[in-house]
Amino acid sequence: MKTDETVYKSIIPVLKSLSEEKLPAVSILANTAALLYDSFEKISWAGFYLLEGETLYVGPFQGKSACTKIDRNKGVCGKAARDKVTVIVEDVDLFPGHIACDSESKSEIVVPVILDDTLIGVLDIDSRSYSSFGSKDKKYLEEITSIIVKNRSFSGFKIL
Ligand code: SME
Repeated sequence: MKTDETVYKSIIPVLKSLSEEKLPAVSILANTAALLYDSFEKISWAGFYLLEGETLYVGPFQGKSACTKIDRNKGVCGKAARDKVTVIVEDVDLFPGHIACDSESKSEIVVPVILDDTLIGVLDIDSRSYSSFGSKDKKYLEEITSIIVKNRSFSGFKIL
């Protein structure tokens, strides 16, 4: 049986090679969301919210249609954006201010996407089971966000 770790280890080389191509950011973000969503049964939504001013706007994602914009200080995404740290929520009902885009979502992990100390946005991943994410997910998802921002040939992260 494949462990989460083996799945992450199989995805990372794909993302590394994708990030070495001269591609617009939106293409890399879109395929990152798709790879994560497709590779893990536990993931019900995977995608990016991109910061523009004081608002996080939904970017490339896979899953049900989601909240279009989030105040940069609200919800789990807002906490990860404000503190620039990964936030793991084992039970979304216990997180004050959690924004329920999908009422069936039970747990969540949000990883900040940072380029040269500047917050670009967040990678948000949801699950319909409780406690789906832990320290291994944090480690590999942080590696994934750092891989995708490494490519300086991006035409820009902003999609607005
Ligand atoms: N639950 C998030 C909102 C985004 S959706 O999960 C896609 C939050 O509380 O910030």
